[in-house]
Amino acid sequence: MRQRVDLDWGNLGFSYLRTPWRFQAEHRDGAWSEGGLVADATITVEEGACALHYAQQCFEGLKAFTTPEDRSVLFRPLENARRMADSARRLLMPPPPEELFLHAVRECVRANEAYMPPHGLGAALYVRPLLIGVGDNLGLRPAPRYLLRVFCSPVGPYFKGGMKAIRLRVSRHDRVAPQGTGAFKVGGNYAGGLLATAEAKAAGYDEALYLDPIEHRWLEEAGSANVFGVLPPRARGGKARLVTPASDSILPSVTMASVLTLAAEDLGLEVERRRVAIDEVADFLEMGCTGTAAVITPVSVVHDGANDVQVGDGAAPGPVTRELYARLTGIQRGTLPDPRGWVVTV
Ligand code: PLP
Ligand code: COI
Repeated sequence: MRQRVDLDWGNLGFSYLRTPWRFQAEHRDGAWSEGGLVADATITVEEGACALHYAQQCFEGLKAFTTPEDRSVLFRPLENARRMADSARRLLMPPPPEELFLHAVRECVRANEAYMPPHGLGAALYVRPLLIGVGDNLGLRPAPRYLLRVFCSPVGPYFKGGMKAIRLRVSRHDRVAPQGTGAFKVGGNYAGGLLATAEAKAAGYDEALYLDPIEHRWLEEAGSANVFGVLPPRARGGKARLVTPASDSILPSVTMASVLTLAAEDLGLEVERRRVAIDEVADFLEMGCTGTAAVITPVSVVHDGANDVQVGDGAAPGPVTRELYARLTGIQRGTLPDPRGWVVTV
């Protein structure tokens, strides 16, 4: 067993705990530097930096897990590398090459392995890559230089209680504009969402739920995760259906893509990615959120703007959510076979 720092691993929340090392590479004059590990947890940037003024920045979130053999593994990191490249291109930033992104993530996890939570306690090492536009600038134009930074922190569940069901509240604010940046992981989307999440919490809910920004009728996603619902079978004796919103303005969740695959291929459910009206929540037998931080979090109540709508019989998590959670986390933590090669060694 490797040496670890002394932490209460089983009781971590989703908060930042500084680890000793982070990785940084720089893009300047059209090329990326090799990059390397740095100890300083602060970044000094020019006051004119585009990341500060014009939110020219994007980020990612992925997790490293410890297997029963005490090996560190990452879950589908290439998907995050690709998504960061997509976000970067949308904001006219240089996309970090996949090899650089993966190298940075691996180096960061390896260097902080004393902070890698032990297997079996429900914790993980959350890895946060970010790409920021820096250098002197004033007018509205892309930055002259960019930093790719990757840091990590041991974390527990994003929503207190882990598999305890949460309550969502439809926000009166839109998350993003039609044809805007909703499908990209850019900080500006989240700055705009802080108020929605705060209002949901102030009203006694756990997170904001967004509807589409045109008709305010179709489910989009939650503040920090995608959403799915479980609908009854079409015919008696058939399989339940798992439905998730199709939208150009939500973040394509790596966790949701994995859940849809597991639902269709392993559970034999019918899977539908389509527009889902807020009114359909009343028909859901189960509902859940998916995300790297949220994992699979069951939802028991949705406030639809007028009323609290109870999901199913209110006894979340239901059987489909439980089964998906067990399969996803089993693969991630190396206790179930991984026939699709989702898990890669650090
Ligand atoms: N939607 C939003 C707004 C998110 O912040 C996240 C988290 O990354 C997700 C969805 C889930 O994406 P993923 O499963 O790739 O972490
Ligand atoms: C993640 O799940 O990785 C995210 O980035 C969501 C964030 C709000 C913590």
